[in-house]
Amino acid sequence: MTVRRSVQREDLSFSTALTAAMATAARAPSSHNSQPWGLAYVVSDLARRRAAALCGDNLSQPDLPGVRVDIDAEFLLLAADRARELAALPAHHAEMQLSCGLYWRLLQRALAAEGWIVRTEVVSADLGVLGLPADWRPLRLARLERAGTPTETRTQLRDLAAARHTDRGPYLDKPIPVGVADTLARRSSQTSQRIDIRFLTSEDDRSRFVRFVARHAGRDFAHPAAWRETHSFIRRSETEARERGDGFSLEHLFGPLSATAMLLRRIALAPITMRLLRPTGFPRILAAQLAALVRQSPAVLLLSLPEAAVGDDELVAAGQLLTDFWLLATDMGLVLHPISVVIQHDDLHARLCAEFGLAGLVFFVARLGYSAHHCPPSPRRSPAASLRTL
Ligand SMILES: Cc1cc2nc3c(=O)[nH]c(=O)nc-3n(C[C@H](O)[C@H](O)[C@H](O)COP(=O)(O)O)c2cc1C
Repeated sequence: MTVRRSVQREDLSFSTALTAAMATAARAPSSHNSQPWGLAYVVSDLARRRAAALCGDNLSQPDLPGVRVDIDAEFLLLAADRARELAALPAHHAEMQLSCGLYWRLLQRALAAEGWIVRTEVVSADLGVLGLPADWRPLRLARLERAGTPTETRTQLRDLAAARHTDRGPYLDKPIPVGVADTLARRSSQTSQRIDIRFLTSEDDRSRFVRFVARHAGRDFAHPAAWRETHSFIRRSETEARERGDGFSLEHLFGPLSATAMLLRRIALAPITMRLLRPTGFPRILAAQLAALVRQSPAVLLLSLPEAAVGDDELVAAGQLLTDFWLLATDMGLVLHPISVVIQHDDLHARLCAEFGLAGLVFFVARLGYSAHHCPPSPRRSPAASLRTL
């Protein structure tokens, strides 16, 4: 689908750029592949005047009819789509803001590659005046203008976004050179100095993390509401995953499986089976399998913010940094596998901080390494499915 703006003022150049950028941004990762973002393209005259006022244009003429909108300005709004958000655990709220930030940053980089850059970005309690769908919670409004030469090309970024993926398989027995880790931390933190980027690479740190996962990761499967919600994102087949355009298939989670192995996993993971097997220690067996994968990983990544109480805006910004990190890691031949269970429950988060001397809010934990196999791309909704015009 091509994005077309209303007849009042159609800028084909921006519409074309937005269509291409959305296709790249759709590859952004999100918790459970829930894709909880909404994107609004501000097109009507009234909405554009309101957006311009919110962005601080023509502040000397605060009465709205007097607000003149620069003919070359374009406005986009990022929202969290409540209808698509995970909600089983309080920690999912942070994961949703992160996911929206991941998408927003990739979209902005893709638009920049098309020659459009963000000049002003606002976070305001008043963004609702733009008239959003009932389920949308506005997060950011951006004012874009044409820029000079793009810093990266459209095809480079598109290919990088397509190559980035979550790799849940075993990693090569190959350490990550210190210089590579330093470059990753330095270059991806250019947008925010507030985020602490830690790598666990020593034998001792990694062994302690492996034990932590083995001891605690069963919580994922032992929490009935959280597991029911996770299970609702597991699709029965690749075809169903493609048709729904979200969630994951068993192959995405476990790699290629025979028909029998697939059937057994489907039965084992069903919430009813999980409830029956819970008292037998089944969640601990699954945790031990995850710990075995972590043991084979050359590094564990921990991202944190200095304060424990963090607002939505800061989490969106953290998601933006994570996009830069993950894409750069991909470009350097590395893969990631988030392990969120260790930070999704307050008591586990506190223990993890105590164990590794961390303070504030750890918002992302992943193993990091070099892939040992090929992963199929996970499904996505149509890029235009998250778009509304205002
Ligand atoms: C904030 C966040 C948390 C995630 N947590 C987990 C996790 O705990 N376990 C996991 O296997 N994948 C996790 N993922 C990866 C997503 O499931 C993955 O991004 C999504 O399924 C899309 O797949 P892709 O990354 O291969 O494109 C997480 C992703 C994000 C953005």
